[in-house]
Amino acid sequence: MRSVAMLDLRGEYKIFREEIRAAVEHVLESQQFIGGPAVAELEDAIRARYGVGYAIAISNGTDALLCALMALSIGQGDEVILPSFTFFATAGAVWRVGAKPVFVDIDPRTFNFDPERVSEAVTPRTRAIIPVHLFGQCADMDAINATAKGHGLKVIEDAAQAIGATYNGRFAGKLGDVACLSFYPTKNLGGFGEGGMILTDDGEFATVARQLRNHGESQRYHHDRVGGNFRLDTMKAAILLVKLRHLEEFTRRRQHNAARYDELLNGSSVTTPYVAYGHQPVYHQYSILSDRRDELISFLRDRSVATGVYYPVGLHRQRCFASLGYGPGSLPITEQSCSRIVSLPCHPMLGEDDVRYVASCIREFERTEQRPSGSGHRPSAPFRSRL
Ligand SMILES: Cc1ncc(COP(=O)(O)O)c(C=O)c1O
Repeated sequence: MRSVAMLDLRGEYKIFREEIRAAVEHVLESQQFIGGPAVAELEDAIRARYGVGYAIAISNGTDALLCALMALSIGQGDEVILPSFTFFATAGAVWRVGAKPVFVDIDPRTFNFDPERVSEAVTPRTRAIIPVHLFGQCADMDAINATAKGHGLKVIEDAAQAIGATYNGRFAGKLGDVACLSFYPTKNLGGFGEGGMILTDDGEFATVARQLRNHGESQRYHHDRVGGNFRLDTMKAAILLVKLRHLEEFTRRRQHNAARYDELLNGSSVTTPYVAYGHQPVYHQYSILSDRRDELISFLRDRSVATGVYYPVGLHRQRCFASLGYGPGSLPITEQSCSRIVSLPCHPMLGEDDVRYVASCIREFERTEQRPSGSGHRPSAPFRSRL
């Protein structure tokens, strides 16, 4: 039986193994493991590619968010508006600087911020908005920026899943005041270990963020502020530079796979991703909705097709945020999405036969629900594990 995984990092590695070995060898020969030319080159390459003024390499995407909030002096007594339907780091960073996360609901079609809910959530304590470009599609940034401008708020893009995505022809990372990227190994630009980056056009902010990255040092052993060790290792930067050369091709492959799924699942009972007008997503995930999500997952698992659930529980319902008082049903679209969403394999190494196989399994699953009642068919039967 064919087997389809959510990712094929070993397969990807084969493509650039020699380039990576050369880059690693170069760092080993230099014996410089912190800072150095590779970090500066990676910052320059990303800055130039996405047309931003400043790029600051950071230890990981979570630290990038934390460092950005610190550089904006957001803390105790401040509120930050963000979606609940996102990875934990978005809210964790807000909490860790002492600010209050204010969760708002999403657009059911894009899974991104509902701009109307965002503007309703603004209070005199609000300092910033964090739109998350979930699954690689940008949030509705014009509406969010308009709200921010009207109230003097900062916009921090959480672009961890969206490197290379565009919105009205502009890149993710160039759409707010500050943006944060993640190079976690499963991300579209995945490193060999943890990694992240802050992007901005604001020179003053960039200077502060650079200092915070290095314990708030303005010059050696002189600390203007308290920061952290948010540095990206030289070795990781050198490897990311190699992978960056292949990113556009890999993104095209993801987009191609997504387009094939769109065609093959057209008219089926699952809801395929909605691409809003003017958006070009990079399909960090290809996420569909199904009323029988859990049955579909086990049906696919029995046919050796891996899936992922991003995310099974909204952040507003996490125990650590219970004191914020969001009860069940407080963000209904988020909660419905948590119970209906499932991501299909869409990675760059997927072949046409893999995509066809996954789609045909979903079609087969669908036929199990279309059998007329009274035919003797028991709905649960096809979902028992196969021999
Ligand atoms: C939306 C989002 N924000 C932030 C992060 C945090 O990035 P990292 O895992 O590099 O700390 C991630 C990655 O997992 C993410 O998906």
